[in-house]
Amino acid sequence: MSVNPNPGRTAQRFAAKVAVITGGAGGLGLAIAEAICIEGGTVALFDANPEAVQVATRSLEKAGFAAFGECVDVRDSHQVQSAMARVADHFGQIDSLIAAAGGSLGTPRDLEDISPEDLDLVIDVNIKGTYHCGAAAVPFMRNQGGGSIVTFSSIGGRSTSPVTGIPYAAAKAGILGLTRRLAREVGPDNIRVNAIAPGLFLTGRLQGMFDAMTEKDRNEVLDSIPLHRMPEIHECVEPVLFLASDASSYITGVVLDVNGGRFMAG
Ligand SMILES: NC(=O)c1ccc[n+]([C@@H]2O[C@H](COP(=O)([O-])OP(=O)(O)OC[C@H]3O[C@@H](n4cnc5c(N)ncnc54)[C@H](O)[C@@H]3O)[C@@H](O)[C@H]2O)c1
Repeated sequence: MSVNPNPGRTAQRFAAKVAVITGGAGGLGLAIAEAICIEGGTVALFDANPEAVQVATRSLEKAGFAAFGECVDVRDSHQVQSAMARVADHFGQIDSLIAAAGGSLGTPRDLEDISPEDLDLVIDVNIKGTYHCGAAAVPFMRNQGGGSIVTFSSIGGRSTSPVTGIPYAAAKAGILGLTRRLAREVGPDNIRVNAIAPGLFLTGRLQGMFDAMTEKDRNEVLDSIPLHRMPEIHECVEPVLFLASDASSYITGVVLDVNGGRFMAG
């Protein structure tokens, strides 16, 4: 798997740090993992896709980085807790949690097509998964005197995206409440919790979807973005690393919109 490494990266903000990245075999998750490795960190990838997590972990190891891969379904609190404990046991610490596992997960967009199972899947992976991972990481971060958690919202939870449905909008908006409330609770333990809300980043499957659109539809997307271009993957990676690292040491409970101006908060 080839990720966009942003070759200009020279900082070492993650030297001697350990980061758990859920959805770590996915488009954004693996790009974030590689960037953290390049900045001196050690990563643990949690992903429900066993082959993908193996391939992703191997690709990092082949590049000479320290990586740990776990097949974990973030919906299952027991799986999450034991995987988090194995990481802490193996590396002795957990400094950052990047909770990227999620998405609309192939569920239908229109109300009349959405089944109760679709709703459960999107809420369970995005909201409950983020909750389980945060709850499992906090005790280790508390014990070591602090840490940083980055949750994944979306422009779909900030505004009304035409490409995703109500379950995704509800889940990604819900993650913002989770983020703020958790930030308030664990702030005294020197644990920061912030959300990232990306616009459309053309990772694997989404690139195919974008390419399959008519030129008119693609232009409509571009016209809705004040910067009038699609982003590079590293333009999401960099803001995540900022929130996960000490570069944002006095920032907690915020949501960072990364969407070229497509949605501007009031
Ligand atoms: N790419 C975008 O344009 C975009 C925009 C806004 C928000 N986001 C959010 O960013 C995050 C990452 O998106 P991406 O584009 O990398 O998606 P992706 O589909 O490439 O990666 C998601 C990863 O999560 C894993 N996953 C799914 N269900 C899981 C579960 N139950 N337990 C553990 N892992 C599971 C998948 O196997 C996959 O590897 C998601 O939360 C998504 O909603 C993405």
